Amino acid sequence: MIVAENLTRVYTMGRVEVRALRGVSLEVEKGEFVGIMGASGSGKSTLLHILGLLDRPTSGRVTVDGTDVLALSDHQRTLFRLNRLGYVFQDYALIGELTALENVYLTSLVRGAPREEYLRRSAGILERVGLADRMDHRQSELSGGEQQRVAIARALVNNPSILLADEPCANLDSQTSKSILDLFARLNEDLDQTIVMVSHEEWHKEYFCRVVTLRDGLIGDMAECRKERPPPGRTA
Ligand SMILES: Nc1ncnc2c1ncn2[C@@H]1O[C@H](COP(=O)(O)OP(=O)(O)OP(=O)(O)O)[C@@H](O)[C@H]1O
Ligand SMILES: [Mg+2]
Repeated sequence: MIVAENLTRVYTMGRVEVRALRGVSLEVEKGEFVGIMGASGSGKSTLLHILGLLDRPTSGRVTVDGTDVLALSDHQRTLFRLNRLGYVFQDYALIGELTALENVYLTSLVRGAPREEYLRRSAGILERVGLADRMDHRQSELSGGEQQRVAIARALVNNPSILLADEPCANLDSQTSKSILDLFARLNEDLDQTIVMVSHEEWHKEYFCRVVTLRDGLIGDMAECRKERPPPGRTA
């Protein structure tokens, strides 16, 4: 379970202060598939960065399964991210010199997984996102949507217990978006994976258990969506 309490994030740009989050509290149960929506600039990526231990809030608290993640050392945070989290960056954050396959298996390599196993898993997840014939392409040899799918495959390859995805379908056509969302929904159900996903698309709501709408750095609205199929582990 992820618990964020009263998060604020102020970016200081010279003498100008940008209050990107102004007091956001959010609980995400294990196995929930939560959508974060809201206008551009409302703080969605800022919130996801903090939940993904990529940034620290100016004030507030974040616990994951009872662990105060802001109190972890840098090394512990890195291990936590490596072992527990998958993160799809809004700008993909691929390594340009590496092939699609290498981008996907890099974290498994760092974790010390056996080569045969990480090659098989990485090729398998690239196939599942429709990139079986693009594994040896570098970033400059991939379309925007293909790069986005490499970023998705990289986030999923280790079956993370928590998946944080920042507009993972922004560059995909609706058919490809649907196949990615179906994949997320399957992992959410089969592996009881917790998913927090930023989206701008109304039709994505049918996949979410709940939608949290941010407005100017505050939670403007919270609404249940997928009522007919509550995820495992959640009480009504
Ligand atoms: N590193 C930064 N330095 C200064 N200001 C920033 C920084 N990152 C974000 N901001 C500002 O914080 C606010 C929230 O940004 P954020 O990226 O979280 O928005 P968002 O909801 O993800 O928007 P979008 O839908 O366009 O991706 C914006 O006003 C943005 O300009
Ligand atoms: Mg964003």
